[in-house]
Parts: sequence; structure tokens; C-alpha cells
Amino acid sequence: MKIGFLQFAPVLGDLRATMHRIDSLLQENMEGCDLLVLPELCNSGYNFQSYEQAWETSEPIEDSIFVRYLINKCRERNLHVVSGFNERDRDTLYNSAILVGPHGLIGTYRKLHLFLNEKDFFRPGNQGVPVFDIGSCIIGMLICFDWTFPEAWRIAALKGADIICHPSNLVLPGLAQRGVPIHALLNRLYIVTANRIGAERDLSFTGSSIIANPRGDLLCQASPIKAEVGIAEIDIGLARDKQITDRNDLFKDRRPEEYSLLTEPNPFGRGSGRTGHGK
Ligand code: ACM
Repeated sequence: MKIGFLQFAPVLGDLRATMHRIDSLLQENMEGCDLLVLPELCNSGYNFQSYEQAWETSEPIEDSIFVRYLINKCRERNLHVVSGFNERDRDTLYNSAILVGPHGLIGTYRKLHLFLNEKDFFRPGNQGVPVFDIGSCIIGMLICFDWTFPEAWRIAALKGADIICHPSNLVLPGLAQRGVPIHALLNRLYIVTANRIGAERDLSFTGSSIIANPRGDLLCQASPIKAEVGIAEIDIGLARDKQITDRNDLFKDRRPEEYSLLTEPNPFGRGSGRTGHGK
């Protein structure tokens, strides 16, 4: 199986221009890629000037030009795609990821951990960390700043994810690119971080998209500034082998009865700063 990322700059507020950019990258040799991951908020762009701009650039999943476009690409190329998506659900916006294939929409994930001004536009995810079986593998999705929270990666792993697709618009230089391979190593699965490039107003995005294997090795890393497609051949069997030594298993050796603090909001009241959600 081959998995990849498409690293580029979606155009804020111009979906047609974004799809044009995707088209021109897809014309490159895709080397028989089976699963392709696109950046966060790919149908809208990221750094909204106002709530109105976030709203106007959102789409309902069931009536989305972008979702239909991606499904057509999947049909043409016998491909699955995970993409970031500015999702409108009645009067609420979510920073979501969608999984589509040749037969249509397969699943969605709504970002759990919102970053900076995202809190003014989006409601935090309310559907947990789902995984989706596409036959050849089981796929989980997390989005950008979720990389900071190991609990989410472990839940996807416990649910059987072989690959976690990670649409991103990273702005803190190099941090996620160091942290994500550790999540791959600790959970023994593949991760594709599809980051974007370019700048929107005061934010510059860091590119350097990666594919990490269950040993924490990088199979592929993109440039920090160029639009490009990265593809790697993977072995799903490696992600399904959770045996660490002949007496240690990643899941069977866990001690959840000793981890109960992890499900309490903030047991010792630690932390600082404002975290409020605007809308
Ligand atoms: C981010 O979560 N877009 C940094």
C-alpha cells in the first residue's frame, strides 16, 4: 500500500483557486498512491479576518462542492483522500477532517483541541476520535494542534487505527515535526502529517510534511516552502504488530486502573492563561 501527502497553500476564501492548485499537483506522477492526505481547512483557508469570513467559506458536508470534487478525484484515481474541511452543521462551524473514497463520503472527525483564534470561530469537536475501516487498513484522523495531546493518539490506536491522517496548518516551527514521529513510535502505527505552506496575514505555515512509520522513522519529509506530493510504501502488518518483546505487548501491558487521573478535567488545577471559546 502507498500513502502520501499533498503539501500546498489553499487559497483563503477562493475554493476554485484551491481546487485548481490541487489539480495541478495531482497531475504529477502519483506512483500508485492509495491514500492521500491534504492540509487542514483545505476548502476555506485558515486565518479568517472575522466570523463572517469563517462562515462564508464553510460548507455543509452533504452539499459541498469540495466534497464532490474530492469524490470525483477518488473515482478517477481509485484513491482514498483525507482532507481538512471547514464544516457548517446548521448554525455551528467545526474544524473537521473528512475521509472520502471512490464510493463517496466515509467518515468525519471534528478537531478536539482548537488552536489560538480557532476558538473564536469553531466549536470544539463533539464526536470523539472515530476510526474507519476501508478494507485495506483502518484509518484515524486528528488535526494539527491535536498533536500536542497524546491521549487522542492513544485512543485512535486502541480503536485499531493502522494509519492516522493528520491534516495540518502548523505555525510553530519544527515542534509537531519532532513530536508526531514519537506518537507513531509510541503507538506503533503510521502517521501522515499533511502540512501547508505559505502565509495568511500574520501567520506563516511551516510545510515540512512528514510520513512516519511505527518505528518512529521518517519515510518522507517535504520542504518547508515548496508545493509537493510525498508518497511512501508501507506495510500494514508492521502497524498491527504491537509486540515489543516476547513478554511485552503495547496494549496488554497497559495499566488503565492506574491512569484514572487522565479522565478528570484538571485534577490539580494546573495550567495558566485564557482558554475560552468565543462562539
Ligand atoms: C493549528 O492547530 N492549526 C496550529
